Amino acid sequence: MTLPADTWGLHDAHFWLRGQTREHPVEFDAERGMWIITGHAEVLAALSDPTRFLSNLSSAFPDTVDMSFNEGNLIQMDGDAHRKLRRLVSNAFTPKVVADLAPRIAELTGELLDAVDGQEEIELVAALAYPLPVIVIAELLGVPASDRELFRQWVDVLFENPQAFSLNDDQEKLKEDFAEQTTVLKPMTEYLIGHAAERRRAPRQDLLTRLVQAEVDGQRLSDTEVVNFAGLLLVAGHITTTMLLGNTVLCLDSFPDQAERVRADRSLVPTAIEESLRMLSPFATTARVTAEDVELAGRVIPEGQLVLPMLGAANRDPRQFDRPQEFDPARDPNPHIAFGRGAHFCLGAPLARLEGRIAVNLLLDRFPAMRTIPGRPPTFMASPDMTGVNALPLRVTA
Ligand code: HEM
Repeated sequence: MTLPADTWGLHDAHFWLRGQTREHPVEFDAERGMWIITGHAEVLAALSDPTRFLSNLSSAFPDTVDMSFNEGNLIQMDGDAHRKLRRLVSNAFTPKVVADLAPRIAELTGELLDAVDGQEEIELVAALAYPLPVIVIAELLGVPASDRELFRQWVDVLFENPQAFSLNDDQEKLKEDFAEQTTVLKPMTEYLIGHAAERRRAPRQDLLTRLVQAEVDGQRLSDTEVVNFAGLLLVAGHITTTMLLGNTVLCLDSFPDQAERVRADRSLVPTAIEESLRMLSPFATTARVTAEDVELAGRVIPEGQLVLPMLGAANRDPRQFDRPQEFDPARDPNPHIAFGRGAHFCLGAPLARLEGRIAVNLLLDRFPAMRTIPGRPPTFMASPDMTGVNALPLRVTA
């Protein structure tokens, strides 16, 4: 049994979800003018070598493209600047801060599920998978969760573009695409600047306050750094977890025997979530630029090239995973790289895992069954860089 990916209208770019592999784990995509890494060992090698595979992508783009919206964005920084900023924000975003959220996450999940109580059918994303993570991240940051429709508008423009961008596009088009991102992000930046300034004046018990106060070696974050990090948390912190929740339920639906196994033995919920991250990795790909000529799997990637380490494809690599197309909720070991690896390993992984565990357990408690509805298949996010359900209609009665 495999995932019925063909019936889901998935983006063509998601070849690994159709059981396909590339001929070579490191290939140059001449059409898009960039390198594609699909092998698990090769993706790991790239992510574990931040000096030769840079996260700041600006050098791969023509000078005319304005990438200033990335300034102070942790995910696009390298070297000492990245280490320092990561240390500072980690001081504010500690495992304890995350662990303390457990009761609130359970309470919110309960309330959201109460709202659909008694219904035979629910749409999981609207009912739970979208609102839960967005409310959690908004409350954690200290911005009003009631503004979540605004957050959704910003995220939709960022991630709903079905076009895979190409370095072979003419410069005008690239310039326009990036200018659009800056325009989209402006209201979010202004929104967060307002809230950060407010916290400097009147500190509260929230992450924004911790960020404006965090210090390493007597140094504080600049306003740009606070706002860009808060923006990254707001965007990365909710849409990815939305995908994780929807994808996990979809994996359970596609493998009913395994779903019964998890229902009967809840100690399998954490490993089932890891397996869902492997099977349907929300961040399908990330990006790097080579700082020098690099040899990988016998191919030489020249300096200054844009490289896409494809996390989703690597997580199905048959050289690394036994039965890669099968959902095994007890898979152990499961060295998936859905949260990345190395210097940029996802800072929000503990939060995403916590939300996943609480939500999946409560869904199993509430609903005697969770099955997709014939004729109403799930729909997926349009972006080639994301793998996640946008809508997942479910029948929840036995
Ligand atoms: C980085 C995936 C949830 C915040 C990353 C990276 C991946 C990733 C692959 C590394 C990117 C790279 O190396 O270029 C995911 C997935 C999630 C998730 C699959 C959910 C299932 C979250 C949450 C938050 C978050 C909930 C925050 C609350 C971050 C941050 C970074 C990051 C701040 C940048 C770390 C750095 O550059 O040092 N995430 N993420 N993520 N993630 Fe997540």
